[in-house]
Amino acid sequence: MLQSLFDCVFDEGLCKTSPNLYEATLLVSGDILAPSPWPRLASFCFCTSYSEVSATHQISVPRAIDQCGPSRRNPRVASGTGDCAQRTSLRRRARPQAVACVFRQSHLRPDPLHFFSPSTTMPISTALTNLLHIRTPFVGAAMQWVSVPRLVAAVSNAGGLGVLTALTQPNPEALRQAIRETRSLTSKPFGVNITLLPSINPPDYAGYARAAVEEGVRIFETAGNNPGKIIKYLKENGCIVIHKCTTIRHAKSAAKHGVDVLSIDGFECAGHPGEDDIGGLVLLARAAKELDIPYIASGGIADARGIAAALALGAAGVNMGTRFMCTVESPIHHNIKQKIVDSSEQDTTHIFRTLHNTARVFKNKVAQEVVTIERRGNAKFEDIRDLVSGARGRIVYENGDPDYGIWTAGIAMGLITDIPTCEALISRLEKETEAIIGNMAALVVTKAKL
Ligand SMILES: Cc1cc2nc3c(=O)[nH]c(=O)nc-3n(C[C@H](O)[C@H](O)[C@H](O)COP(=O)(O)O)c2cc1C
Repeated sequence: MLQSLFDCVFDEGLCKTSPNLYEATLLVSGDILAPSPWPRLASFCFCTSYSEVSATHQISVPRAIDQCGPSRRNPRVASGTGDCAQRTSLRRRARPQAVACVFRQSHLRPDPLHFFSPSTTMPISTALTNLLHIRTPFVGAAMQWVSVPRLVAAVSNAGGLGVLTALTQPNPEALRQAIRETRSLTSKPFGVNITLLPSINPPDYAGYARAAVEEGVRIFETAGNNPGKIIKYLKENGCIVIHKCTTIRHAKSAAKHGVDVLSIDGFECAGHPGEDDIGGLVLLARAAKELDIPYIASGGIADARGIAAALALGAAGVNMGTRFMCTVESPIHHNIKQKIVDSSEQDTTHIFRTLHNTARVFKNKVAQEVVTIERRGNAKFEDIRDLVSGARGRIVYENGDPDYGIWTAGIAMGLITDIPTCEALISRLEKETEAIIGNMAALVVTKAKL
């Protein structure tokens, strides 16, 4: 539907210019009218430039048809007057199914995000949505201490895939309880992440995996080193496995282990970006050329432009961490969510570089101290152990003091300006992504128009 709307939006030929009255034929499909219990309202905005809305009109569908012609499929509407604020408030009250804009100067193309608004979207269907039976290809990334049942269920209920972090739970038995709690909050699919960390005393990974499989979980994300054994176990038990990696080399190796989907984490990502420092743009373009199985894009994605770009790069979906940290259902202290909103893409730093276990974290006093110690040279883990303690990081989320310890966040902070519910966020991202994808077609012009 949007596609046809934007066709109309950018076609000057449809615009009849008189000082106060503009008319347009909306080439919308029957969708806008068919389900109408009368009187359903539609709003149409008519603009003369990028920023100025010169006329806004709200009109009931039957009136639009009466006034504008016999065909239900091609209503013609006349404009009134209004401005941007009025348009927004009208839109809110009327819950219109579509907004169309006619630009008298077609070179002043608008940002389509300011002008779309179908209240029902057509789902974005990809290999990921089909494989996982989810409505929208957005994964709420696995986040230590953050991806707890409430947030995971909220992401899944909103149509995405929520992912519990196994290691947030102190032991496999506690993971069972978390899975049961999540299931009590959603009937939709969700996954479990198992992160394999370099550790002298590794956690009971096999135990966590077994507990989740026994609880009926069939979607897993694995991350970290040497995942072969866990992947084998999960595949033997009929599970779908998404493996997260930061190089195409590792992606190919995981594919050989039989994983179903790869999650390609670019250097932009929060957490561990690997040691090769390659951004998502190049990684994903290489993935498109070289991988035979579906992959999702991860790292630095927090808005519809990033999602549309990832889909254009062949990704079957996106994995978003920092964005979902900053939602109503995220369990972290409000101060930290606000800190994310107030911060920019400049506010992260890399610790553990010298230990070859790089992690992108929020740039606070503690992180800067760690970096200073590492830069002095020959730093050993013992030199920074107290500063980087996981317990201190966890307390940041509980007490809301952003300087108390190390906490993870990505450069996607530069794109985050609000703290919405998961439902509001996902539905906004879906609509905006759809608008961008629809509008992309308008970039290709026929030779006759040049
Ligand atoms: C607070 C936080 C904790 C994270 N914990 C984990 C983790 O335990 N295991 C893991 O594989 N990735 C973890 N990540 C990385 C995310 O799963 C995801 O790859 C990353 O957030 C993507 O980058 P983005 O934040 O720019 O969206 C974490 C990220 C954040 C923000």
